[in-house]
Amino acid sequence: MSKIKTQMMKTKQLLSIAIYLILSGMTVFSSEKTSFNKGWKFINKDTIASAINFDDSRWRTLNLPHDWSVEGTFDEKNPSTPGGGALPGGIGWYRKTFTIEKADSGKLFFIDFDGVYRNSEVWINGQYLGKRPNGYISFRYELTPYLHYGNTPNVIAVKVDNSKQPNSRWYSGSGIYRNVWIIKSEKIRVDHWGTFIKTLKDSAGIAIIELDIKIKNTSGKSAQLTVKSEIIDQKGIVVDNRKSKILSPNNAISGTKQLFEIEKPNLWSVENPYLYKVVTTVISGKKVLDTYETPLGIRTFTFDANKGFLLNGKKVKINGVCNHHDLGCLGAAINVRALERQLEILKSMGVNGIRTSHNPPAPELLDLCDKMGFIVMDEAFDMWKKKKTEFDYSLDWDVWHKQDLEDFVLRDRNHPSVFIWSIGNEILEQWDSTGITIGKELATIVRSLDATRPITSALNDPNPNNYIYQSGSLDLVGFNYHHQDFANFPKNFPNQKFIATETVSALATRGSYDMPADTIKRWPQAWDKPLVGGNKDFSCSSYDNCSAPWGSTHEETWKIMKKNDFLSGQYIWTGFDYIGEPTPYPWPARSSYFGIVDIAGFPKNAFYLYQSEWTSKPVLHIFPHWNWKAGDTIDVWAYSSFRTVELFLNGKSVGKKTKGTDDLHLSWRVPFEAGTLKAIGYIGEKAEMATEVKTAGEPAKIILEADRQTIKADGSDLSFVTVKVVDKDGVVVPYADNQIQFSISGEGTIVGTDNGSQISMEPFKSSSRKAFHGLCLAVVQSTEKQGQITLKATADKLPQAEIIIQSK
Ligand code: GAL
Repeated sequence: MSKIKTQMMKTKQLLSIAIYLILSGMTVFSSEKTSFNKGWKFINKDTIASAINFDDSRWRTLNLPHDWSVEGTFDEKNPSTPGGGALPGGIGWYRKTFTIEKADSGKLFFIDFDGVYRNSEVWINGQYLGKRPNGYISFRYELTPYLHYGNTPNVIAVKVDNSKQPNSRWYSGSGIYRNVWIIKSEKIRVDHWGTFIKTLKDSAGIAIIELDIKIKNTSGKSAQLTVKSEIIDQKGIVVDNRKSKILSPNNAISGTKQLFEIEKPNLWSVENPYLYKVVTTVISGKKVLDTYETPLGIRTFTFDANKGFLLNGKKVKINGVCNHHDLGCLGAAINVRALERQLEILKSMGVNGIRTSHNPPAPELLDLCDKMGFIVMDEAFDMWKKKKTEFDYSLDWDVWHKQDLEDFVLRDRNHPSVFIWSIGNEILEQWDSTGITIGKELATIVRSLDATRPITSALNDPNPNNYIYQSGSLDLVGFNYHHQDFANFPKNFPNQKFIATETVSALATRGSYDMPADTIKRWPQAWDKPLVGGNKDFSCSSYDNCSAPWGSTHEETWKIMKKNDFLSGQYIWTGFDYIGEPTPYPWPARSSYFGIVDIAGFPKNAFYLYQSEWTSKPVLHIFPHWNWKAGDTIDVWAYSSFRTVELFLNGKSVGKKTKGTDDLHLSWRVPFEAGTLKAIGYIGEKAEMATEVKTAGEPAKIILEADRQTIKADGSDLSFVTVKVVDKDGVVVPYADNQIQFSISGEGTIVGTDNGSQISMEPFKSSSRKAFHGLCLAVVQSTEKQGQITLKATADKLPQAEIIIQSK
């Protein structure tokens, strides 16, 4: 049984406020947010388990977040279909038993779910609290009237029903896959999602900030309150504060607005995402009833029909990517470190924007984007009333869309990283006049809650007759694909503002190459039939010469995007490969080919194209690998920040080449000869950078490299360990597919393994994984005990490798 104790898991910030208030002679009764993830009981079964005295003792015990689908095995016959990742769905029940101290009997208690996929129903002590069909929305129930205090246990029961499938065009996961929280508060408190912060203006070095605060009173009487807010910078200095006196009537929500002025503010930008925090204190007499924190990033921005996107007055091209929510072998179960790693990898490539395709994200993703500097397009829906898959959210549309959309905006509108609201992706109503009515309705809902950000919809038929466009509700015309029409945008949409909501859909398998590299294959989607002309090994070439027919190669879109200022930017489909949607192949492919980074987190070649274009780092990346047959003719490409590159094979120059203004890569056609391929990047006549690719010999050893060798002993932190199968000289063997067997000892567990192959049928939770083009991955999670973790990897005929990770 877990206890919700007053002092348990308070945030540092609340503690410091408490200390300050105690020193200043006040009693503190602030709202507390406590993780409610630990010690749940779970069963993957269709049963009825809502009663308080139901015997769950034989159920499995686990901690949330949890995704039961990712624990399953891939099967074409699973109702999710390969498009949904071919993993099982079904019905699951979760139960958690807990007690609440007697001393808390005058308090209010709420339970917050960040996301449950899908059709969740919740009971407290046998009392039904409600249903939430949408699998991506965050929601809250009040528990207070049904709670027991003291030693009498309380039971929360949650039914999750993901049995009716397909209900998604990609992998959804199943279960309570995001965090759960218990909120304890006084009866007078800042309401749920009860603040809204705006930068009204930032000019002449002064920012004007408005904070709108909603106070809810269910105390039984009205109260005179003081509401005090402080804006605190990163050094902990209060840069401005305001106090308002308000009368808070019983059973009502009352509001106050506070205006702040900050001189010479530190602005939030992509390079320096400076965050302030605003701490609001609700005081009655000498009693602090609540403290509430609102993040603040001060920035101004506009989308301009001629100049594109301007952030703090400066032109910024949005170089973004779309991502689905799964975390590869961890499935949909949210893990902050796994998200942060994805964002770090993307940031190092030069990405500055994220589209949360096609649904509300985990709140932690937005926290990270606030902190790391990403321009987020926050998306609400993949369908409206018209369905895309048999059992999808269109069935819940009529009853739920209004509330889901409102909750989505209320939850996310204080994130400085959120710049664009998308009311839908490739919505089928764009071809029918209901696109006008629904479009208008949704935009009205969004604007009533936030008029500071533009609204778009990702249109895959972006022409002026499109009904959603015709609704007049879009501030930004969102193009999905159609890069050939970008340049004509000002002509076709005079005075309108542009965003490429989705682009490219190039296809690639890391480490696979089809030659000649300049032959582009536009492979269509065909999950139900073999792909005519497809590769026997279900691969797509990673020379940037394979794409979906509705998309383009990476270069084709970027060349146009780069040239035209009015094109504010793009969100490329996709940053990472994801589970499901294995276009262009049918089964046994089960994950996508669209990623610039594979599903295990290993960059494909296109990563370096963007890095050479989008960052100021010196980049010189040559490919393919150098293990071919004598006599083969091989196309060698270089993505490089240097305009001039010279290529050498075994010491002999193959040619020095210089990129023309439009070129994004250099290439050489080289007769293969085993040895060393070396490239040198020049500035003028000066050699600035060199890189080599060598012919690998037989696999001789395993190398283990951890992204972090010290992790937190918090039961959640992760170390991503890359396994390289190398020859005796340490060169990665590009054809190595050795079966790697992992074992772990000490204070850690293996929570997933992966290799980036779209057709790997090994379960994600397996501790054995085949290398794929020489690489695979093991994800190690800490326990809550400090200590050493030893991960060992063995493979037939190769010496055992070992790595030590410290958990502190
Ligand atoms: C788009 C769609 C995405 C994904 C992509 C694949 O049309 O919006 O969700 O399916 O195609 O190319």
